[in-house]
Amino acid sequence: MIIGSMQCRLQSSLACCQFDSGRWHNVYKLKNNKTKMRQKILDPCCGGRMFWFDKHNPNVIFGDIRNERHILCDGRKLEVKPDKIMDFRNLEYPDKTFKLVVFDPPHLKGAGRNGWMAKKYGVLDKDTWRDDLRRGFSECWRVLKKDGILIFKWNEHSIKLKDIRDLFPADPLFGHTTNNKGNTHWICFMKL
Ligand SMILES: C[S@@+](CC[C@H](N)C(=O)[O-])C[C@H]1O[C@@H](n2cnc3c(N)ncnc32)[C@H](O)[C@@H]1O
Repeated sequence: MIIGSMQCRLQSSLACCQFDSGRWHNVYKLKNNKTKMRQKILDPCCGGRMFWFDKHNPNVIFGDIRNERHILCDGRKLEVKPDKIMDFRNLEYPDKTFKLVVFDPPHLKGAGRNGWMAKKYGVLDKDTWRDDLRRGFSECWRVLKKDGILIFKWNEHSIKLKDIRDLFPADPLFGHTTNNKGNTHWICFMKL
């Protein structure tokens, strides 16, 4: 049984691969002994990957703090099965690793932990949510390369966007509001 992370060398001394949480991650060793991830995109809280066109896009590392399966109220299955268990407040990647990070953290405050919304989207901790989001932004920003893009998605069900603006890692470039109530926001940042 493979527990945790395992490394093996491939054909060249410069390439190796890493087995983690049921999936191989290609990692290239550079001449200066630093490593480079094959995946250029990080989704550190992927949930059921609902917004992805290709839910197994090989260019993406899909992370989440949980690994769970549920049957929702309408009978649909929800599977949260990240490539890697991770905590967006403390990412284990080096600085400047990814070209694109997609940050879609829980937005529900006060939802019962067993309700279907909570199962689908997770919940914010009622005491620590501000600090959790601040740390999430800061970590997503840290692992972005220079000129990298951060996409942030937020739904105002519990908390208005204006009330978390001070947690942003930089000034946003542009955004768009979606859904029929107009309360889901997609916001784009660039690490200039
Ligand atoms: C809004 S949902 C993501 C939905 C997803 N983008 C989709 O398309 O289905 C937020 C996710 O963040 C996860 N999450 C909550 N706290 C986290 C943390 N500290 N680190 C990583 N993931 C976390 C939850 O488990 C939940 O699956």
